[in-house]
Amino acid sequence: MSAPPLTVLAVPEHEAAVIRAAVRAADVALLGPGYRLAVADDVPGLLDLLSDPAVSAPIYDLPRPFTAAVIGSWVAEAQARQARGEAVLAVSVDADGRLSGYSYFTVWPERSAAEIGGAQRADRQNQGVGKAGAARSFGWMFEHLGVRLIGLTAAIDNVRSARVIEAAGFVAMGERESRRPDGSVRLSRYWELTRDQWRAQQAAAP
Ligand SMILES: CC(C)(COP(=O)(O)OP(=O)(O)OC[C@H]1O[C@@H](n2cnc3c(N)ncnc32)[C@H](O)[C@@H]1OP(=O)(O)O)[C@@H](O)C(=O)NCCC(=O)NCCS
Repeated sequence: MSAPPLTVLAVPEHEAAVIRAAVRAADVALLGPGYRLAVADDVPGLLDLLSDPAVSAPIYDLPRPFTAAVIGSWVAEAQARQARGEAVLAVSVDADGRLSGYSYFTVWPERSAAEIGGAQRADRQNQGVGKAGAARSFGWMFEHLGVRLIGLTAAIDNVRSARVIEAAGFVAMGERESRRPDGSVRLSRYWELTRDQWRAQQAAAP
């Protein structure tokens, strides 16, 4: 399961409550055209998407094996977590109605912190979609969900993710162990970015 960032912020109760409310009411359409919340009807599309190792192999926190029952529970659990203000599972849909990607936002309101995991369909990778989508997602997490800190992990050999993360200004903080849902450990590279750092960067951008 996703672990919260290493840095622990002091968070007043009212700030955590505002974040929980924002997560419950999250508008994922702001992430870009074709984005919407995942629903039970997306299970076949998610199975199709995740069954491609080019999509799912680098992602440690997905439930496995990819069966309708396992993915159905994952979607239902994400909906329940959103109702508690702790997660958002969004899918993106292309012009043909096929799922072209997913984004899972995990939020720790009492830490004012969040992370994102996700993937693009294989035919959409390596075209700059991930870099642009990730930057939009980071802005959305800071400004729409209202968290002050994002912590991210990527597999040591996931060069594309590292490029995307560092292009957005994240600060490398070494390595940490990520725990898969089956309890096994994957070594990850780890980064953090604060909202203040993000805003300073946005203000300085041309
Ligand atoms: C990771 C992912 C979201 C990135 O999105 P993407 O649209 O493929 O990536 P982009 O086209 O925006 O490219 C990202 C960067 O990686 C670079 N890159 C691509 N392949 C590379 C390679 N083999 N070696 C070095 N750099 C590479 C690109 O040049 C680009 O950097 P630049 O813009 O500075 O030139 C996407 O590849 C994906 O879904 N992968 C599978 C799942 C996954 O890894 N999810 C993330 C888990 S942390």
